[in-house]
Amino acid sequence: MTTLAKDLPNLQLSLGVDDLANLAVTPWFSYIVNLVECPLPTIPERPHLKTERLILRPILPSDLDAFCELRKIPECQNQSKTRGRADESREETKQALEALNREEQNHWYFGVFLQATGELIGEAGLPDCVATATSNTGWPEAEFLLKPRFWRQGYGTEAFNALVDSWWGLPRERRRHQLITPLVPGIEPGAEVPEGLVFQWEAHNVRASGFFAKVLAQAPAAAEGTFESRDMRDGRQGEIVRWAGTLIGNPRS
Ligand SMILES: CC(C)(COP(=O)(O)OP(=O)(O)OC[C@H]1O[C@@H](n2cnc3c(N)ncnc32)[C@H](O)[C@@H]1OP(=O)(O)O)[C@@H](O)C(=O)NCCC(=O)NCCS
Repeated sequence: MTTLAKDLPNLQLSLGVDDLANLAVTPWFSYIVNLVECPLPTIPERPHLKTERLILRPILPSDLDAFCELRKIPECQNQSKTRGRADESREETKQALEALNREEQNHWYFGVFLQATGELIGEAGLPDCVATATSNTGWPEAEFLLKPRFWRQGYGTEAFNALVDSWWGLPRERRRHQLITPLVPGIEPGAEVPEGLVFQWEAHNVRASGFFAKVLAQAPAAAEGTFESRDMRDGRQGEIVRWAGTLIGNPRS
């Protein structure tokens, strides 16, 4: 199988909130895709990803204090695609941490720790990579959230490279998988589609636009563009949110 970028012309999408609704059908179909093999490695089996200055490793119950500090920072947590706000209490963060450990089979998600001090400076990964229930596209979607005082010092790039490399390095298996049809134009339902990975951010997030443009410069985009959706995140339900995003193909398939 070749990469998405080779199989499909680069798609430029710009979908308004009513575009899909006006199709009057749910535009999801099932395709055959080489996807990550399940079950995923358990939390104790997961690698500790070492970069020049960082270690990315699973966030454990013993990291609760540090995780609370990270999850209460609105400047980064507001940009979370799945949560969209800072946690409101220690109890909320504790529950999120327990869920990360209990629901290990649905995420490839890591704490970003400074090697020099052991400080948890961020979180990075694919929070919903198997069920993809929170995905707008059907593909796993990535998040990178660092504490503001570590921005623009290259840490995001280090975390990105380690995370994406580890994801593509996991074993694959052929499975049926549901995708939104505008991303696979001209491909019949049931046919084989090359695997993809999505990076998505709120369109007004200039920092994320600059970041993803740079880190994805070497990864040919299979599709990029903007789309609107009704926000499902707590406290923002019903608001129209405008997203920007890029879909890349698995370079190893
Ligand atoms: C997005 C984020 C992860 C980037 O991490 P970072 O460590 O600041 O990024 P880096 O230092 O590795 O920057 C790499 C490149 O991204 C671009 N970039 C980073 N910050 C930028 C900014 N504020 N404006 C424009 N471009 C920017 C630059 O091209 C930069 O390279 P350069 O510094 O050599 O010019 C981090 O800013 C963050 O956590 N932001 C809040 C959460 C968020 O918006 N996440 C994205 C959506 S999930």
